[in-house]
Parts: sequence; C-alpha cells; structure tokens
Amino acid sequence: MSIHLVEVTVKTIDMAAYVDDSETISNPLPMDNLAINLALKDSLNSIPFSKLYTTEHELEYIAQAIASRQIAGDGAFTKKCQHWLQQVLGSQKVLLTHSCTAALEMAVILADIQPGDEVIMPSYTFVSTANAVVLRGGIPVFVDIRPDTLNLDETLIEAAITSKTKAIMPVHYAGISCEMSAIQALATKHGLAIIEDAAQGFGSMYKSQPLGSLGKMAAFSFHATKNIVSGEGGALAINDPALMERAEIIWEKGTNRSQFFRGAVDKYTWVDVGSSYLPSDLLAAFLWAQLGQADEIKQQRLGLWQRYDRAFAPLELQGKVRRPTVPLECQHNAHIYYLLVDNLETRTQVLAALKQYGVQATFHYVPLHSAPAGRKYGRAQGELSVTDDICDRIVRLPLSAALTTSEVDHVIALVLQALAVRDTALSFAPLS
Ligand SMILES: Cc1ncc(COP(=O)(O)O)c(C=O)c1O
Repeated sequence: MSIHLVEVTVKTIDMAAYVDDSETISNPLPMDNLAINLALKDSLNSIPFSKLYTTEHELEYIAQAIASRQIAGDGAFTKKCQHWLQQVLGSQKVLLTHSCTAALEMAVILADIQPGDEVIMPSYTFVSTANAVVLRGGIPVFVDIRPDTLNLDETLIEAAITSKTKAIMPVHYAGISCEMSAIQALATKHGLAIIEDAAQGFGSMYKSQPLGSLGKMAAFSFHATKNIVSGEGGALAINDPALMERAEIIWEKGTNRSQFFRGAVDKYTWVDVGSSYLPSDLLAAFLWAQLGQADEIKQQRLGLWQRYDRAFAPLELQGKVRRPTVPLECQHNAHIYYLLVDNLETRTQVLAALKQYGVQATFHYVPLHSAPAGRKYGRAQGELSVTDDICDRIVRLPLSAALTTSEVDHVIALVLQALAVRDTALSFAPLS
C-alpha cells in the first residue's frame, strides 16, 4: 500500500492571530485550495490526541490535602467529590475509585455475578467491561452494535438472553447514550441488572436524565483521556439503596471500616469480599478542581466538536465520510469526535497523513469477541458484522478543552486534504 504525501503551500500567518484563540481569525479553514499551512504546522509542532486541560486549582487543592496531613483514601476531598457527584447524578451513593475498571469490578461483585452467569455487553468496548465479569467467573456475551450510534443494538439483546443471563452492561460510546428505555424495559421483563459503563459518559443526558443514573449501577472514568480527569480515576454510582452498605464494604477491602469511622461500630473487621478500590485524597483533590469546571469543560469541548461536525458536513453529503449520529433524546458531552471513512485502507492513509503533520489521530477498540481472551472467556451472539466493519473504519480526531480552534481547524484541513489526495490517487492509479 502506498501512502501519498501531500503537496503543501506555504503561507505567511500572523502568529498573534494563531496564539489568540478567539473567533477573530476571518477564514480559519484553508478550504479553497486545501493547502496546509507549513508555518502553522511548525508553530504547532504536534497536536496530541488528548491534551491535558487544567483549571487553576489542582495544585492549590493538592497542597490543602497535604497540609491537612490526610492523604489516604476517603478524606475530605473524596467526600466533597462524592457528595457533588451524588447531587449531580441524583444517585443514592457515589464512591470514588482509582479507575473505571475498578468501579466495574465492584459493580459486578455487587450484582452478585457467579461463575457461569452471563452478562450481555457490546464487543465494541474496552477490555475492562468484559474483564470485570470474567474475574468473577462470569461469561461476557457479546452483542452487535447499532451502525448509527455504535452503541449496543437494543433490538438484538433479547435473542442473547438465556436462563444464565444476570445483567446487561450498556456502554455509552463517545458519551452518546444507548437506547436506555428499550434496555430498561428488557431488564425489567427478564429481571436483569443494568450496569452502565459510563466511562465516557460523564455530563451526558438521555431524555433529560444524566447518564449514570439509568442503571442499578454505573461506572465512570476520570482517566487522563476523559473529559474530567485525575490522571487515573473513576467512580461507581449506586442507584439502588439495597446495595449501598455492601458497596462501601467492597470498596474498603471487604471490611466495615467506613461504618467504624462513622462511629456505627466500635471496631472494624473483615465481613465480605473486597479490595482496595479507593483512591488517595491527593487524586480526589485534583478531581475536585476539575469537577468545579465541569460545565465549562463540556461547553469548550462541545464548541470544538461542533466545529469539526460543521466542517465535515459537505464530505458526508458527498458520501465520503459518516459523521457521529446523536439521537434526538441524547445530549452528549463531546467526548469523542470521530469520522467513519470508507474502508481500512483509507483509514490507514488518513492516520498516516495526520501523523506526518504531527497530529495524533487514532482508531478505537479492537473487537473483544474475536480477541484471544474474548474467544476463550466469552460468547458472541450472532455475526457482529457491524462491530467488525466499524472498527476498521473509525478515525478519532484530537479533542480536548485545551485545544484551540486554530488547532482544530488545522486538523480539519489535514483530513480534508488527506481524503482529497486519496480520491485523486484512486481516480488515476489504483492503490496497491
Ligand atoms: C468503555 C470503557 N470502559 C472502561 C474503561 C476503563 O476506564 P479506566 O481507564 O478509568 O479504568 C474505558 C477506558 O477508556 C472505556 O472506554
């Protein structure tokens, strides 16, 4: 396969205009000739896929935590974050964890998944969704996704339910909700628990309800690549009062230490299974700063997401790409901006062209049902043809509250150029 490098036209640009991230740049997209501005490229050096956005408070709060001499888990910042998240989600209880992976593991223990129990989930997800089930001896049952939202196809779930099915794990891909009304109806009909994998879903809504409030439990990620970050980090939201007490015990290594600290018991002891799922209060201090700007971060990302989306609308009309679909009932958090191109070859070329100019774009999940561990521990329901197709064609573009509009415009110009070059190449010489 040959990679076609692009011809570039050098223009002089006003660096001040570039540095100032206002909307004053009159024609930010060099669309006319699809020329890539080398000067701009040099000034950017590189555009990371996920650029860390910080508020002005992370160090201040971490200093406060250190000054308090309480930096273990369940400290003052942990409590502040948990309380805030509980209010925002309307959850019975929220527990911070050191990752979404940890929150998923807790959720699967709380759902009482036993060896041989089946849990329905998409194959197009991160390994942690499936691992959490496998670690308890459960069997992930992989169901195909919808071609529009790339979320679990709710119309295929019922056929995957057996007498062993105990739970459904919908993954809200790109922060766009699964079709939760249908999934909730199925869960009620068959007596199944819903564990939302809301790793990417903080700040999104479905029918005006926050993601994370729609299942029995929900797991969030605050990993460095997410919208709200603490490096590594996560949270488990518990929406069923019956699970609250046990959740705290599993969180604290299987002990009733939280009850002891509240003065509810006079000594603490080992009462259940569990692990060390709680993060240091230093991480919670970082997270508290981020949560304080959750709205601003979302708005900033949405602005950039829409900028991408507007720019690529003509390409979709020409049938060259497909843009993300956001169903009417979903308000999303702009977690991912992606394009679906026509095939793997185009995807490889677009990624290579972007890399050539220092732009980190990427693909996403490698399907779990055909992965070695997926074949060993899981079961695929049907063909999963949408999953297989999508994973070859998706291109995720850089997106972060710390990106400037100029940087996004630069990425847009590069994508347009990469796709235009590909068309030219195709019309004159088939790629080998
Ligand atoms: C759908 C999904 N679930 C779980 C995770 C794991 O999150 P964490 O890195 O916080 O453990 C990810 C990570 O990106 C994810 O995309």
